[in-house]
Amino acid sequence: MQVFHHVASLRQALAEARRDGKSIGFVPTMGNLHDAHIELVNLAHQHCDVVVVSIFVNRLQFGLNEDWDKYPRTMQEDMARLRAANCDYLFHPEEAEIYPNGMDQQTKVICPAMTDVLCGASRPGHFEGVTTVVAKLFNIVQPDKAVFGVKDFQQLAVIRRMVEDLCIPVEIVAAPVHREDDGLAMSSRNGYLTEEERPKVAILNQSLNWVSNEIKNGRKDFPALEEEARAKIQEAGFKVDYFSICNSKDLQPAAHDDCEITILGAMYTSGARLIDNVSLSV
Ligand code: PAF
Repeated sequence: MQVFHHVASLRQALAEARRDGKSIGFVPTMGNLHDAHIELVNLAHQHCDVVVVSIFVNRLQFGLNEDWDKYPRTMQEDMARLRAANCDYLFHPEEAEIYPNGMDQQTKVICPAMTDVLCGASRPGHFEGVTTVVAKLFNIVQPDKAVFGVKDFQQLAVIRRMVEDLCIPVEIVAAPVHREDDGLAMSSRNGYLTEEERPKVAILNQSLNWVSNEIKNGRKDFPALEEEARAKIQEAGFKVDYFSICNSKDLQPAAHDDCEITILGAMYTSGARLIDNVSLSV
């Protein structure tokens, strides 16, 4: 695995790969890699000849009171995992390489669709930070395909929309949610869970599955279902951020005749905010 800290040297290596007729797969990450990230790398390998992974904890997508400073940086372990997964190129830039003119005056990519609901409502500016850095990374790497996890369903939808709106020549590949045995979606933020909380947090996934089954069994009273699910999560001791039954395409509240539905939930533990989702066709 070759490691690059600068845009120019990465571009040179990728230009050579392209000249050799190789297709480029890209997996953007913020590091602290776990099995779900490695699944993204494996999927990129299935689609492309060479795989580039980026590790960059993007301050622009964190709110002022969020966990940018304590977000786990585990470079040595991450590199070992990427080597074992046959990653070809790792891009690990300093902040000044990505934001050479600082962040205040940074040109932003703003996707107005779908970004002020769900995670966007509780994390103002978050998706603007994500779309801006992902657009920059796409310009740097110029991948044929880029892989994102369905666990961040709203992020995936927003990035697909950005790619479509800006005619970015990349195919977005979605990787299924990778889960622990009890259903908890894998996430770097699971590391913030206390021992006492850990056995209880599967309630988020259980509530999503319960609602999904109720809808499959014919229930259409979506607001009441959402309320019942929120109550289950609260009874397990967690504060609900949102729990919404949405149209999978535009993330608006689902209508009774919608066929593609995604149920999305977010809840707070003592030190983390966990998100998850389940999709169904009716
Ligand atoms: O999903 C993430 O880890 C980040 O939001 C991403 C896509 C790497 C952008 O910083």
